[in-house]
Amino acid sequence: MLTIRHLLNGGQFSPSGLLEIFQLAERLRKRDGLGLLKKPLKSRQVFLAFEEPSTRTRLSFEIAIRKLGGNPVIIDNLEKKSSLAKGESFEDMLRTLAAFGIKIVIIRHPEVNLPSRLAQISDYHRLGISIINAGDGNNEHPVQSFLDVYTVWREKREKLEKGELTVAYIGDLKDSRVAHSGIQAFSNFGVKIILLPALEATSDILKYAPKIDVWNLLRFQKERKKGRSNLDRLEETYYQCCTLTKEIRKLAKPDALFLHSRPRGREIPLEVDNDPRQRYVINFDFSDPWQNQETNGLYLKMALLCLIAESA
Ligand code: CP
Repeated sequence: MLTIRHLLNGGQFSPSGLLEIFQLAERLRKRDGLGLLKKPLKSRQVFLAFEEPSTRTRLSFEIAIRKLGGNPVIIDNLEKKSSLAKGESFEDMLRTLAAFGIKIVIIRHPEVNLPSRLAQISDYHRLGISIINAGDGNNEHPVQSFLDVYTVWREKREKLEKGELTVAYIGDLKDSRVAHSGIQAFSNFGVKIILLPALEATSDILKYAPKIDVWNLLRFQKERKKGRSNLDRLEETYYQCCTLTKEIRKLAKPDALFLHSRPRGREIPLEVDNDPRQRYVINFDFSDPWQNQETNGLYLKMALLCLIAESA
């Protein structure tokens, strides 16, 4: 069995480790459909702290914890509402959580590398707390990268495992933690990665479109560019470069997959929601509406939580 101590970066699993996670996610999905889920987190408290906005990651973790029998314990606005606001250190806070028997902490925070720092504290003091990085600033978002690879694996298993896919990341590569983790996770399978950074991308997208199997469209990370002048103009230029237009979609492979971690900006026009190649939003007109990044992400998170709980 795969042992998971902490979840910190997109490159931390070998392909065989990821395959074990994906296979468990499939079993959990089947059991959930039959109403036969076991409760490996029964009587366990899982601490969630989201210091940056989130819909998908937070809700899916909370639902995953409840489906597995655990209890999510949440402090909103940790920096202002917990004793961190009175100068308490993260070190003391983690020791308090350990005293209450908490074994898993899921954190999203603007500070780059904070999850790694918390993991070091946990290990140093032998607190037995596993840290899950749910996004640290513009650095990494590993769980998103695993669910993105899982989404591709469900449909293009053989080609992914043989490294025979071309995966593109398009847009705000500098500030996208989704891209930083995803590039590592996909690279581990030996697939070809194409990086098309914003403002250089227009003609390149047209050139590469017929070759790309997996499209990862990225949001313009406006919140990471505070203080930049002409931000609105930059954003407009971004959409001119990085939008999945009708022209581009015509050139894309018929069996390509269009992924987006969301929330979206205008890089994914609403009409793409009805394109059978998209997997970023549920669409009940599709033959399998449940094959989308968000539903896949729920079962992927359940698998990760099970493995972490068993590794404790
Ligand atoms: N994909 C993702 O991280 O979405 P949220 O910011 O809504 O959690």
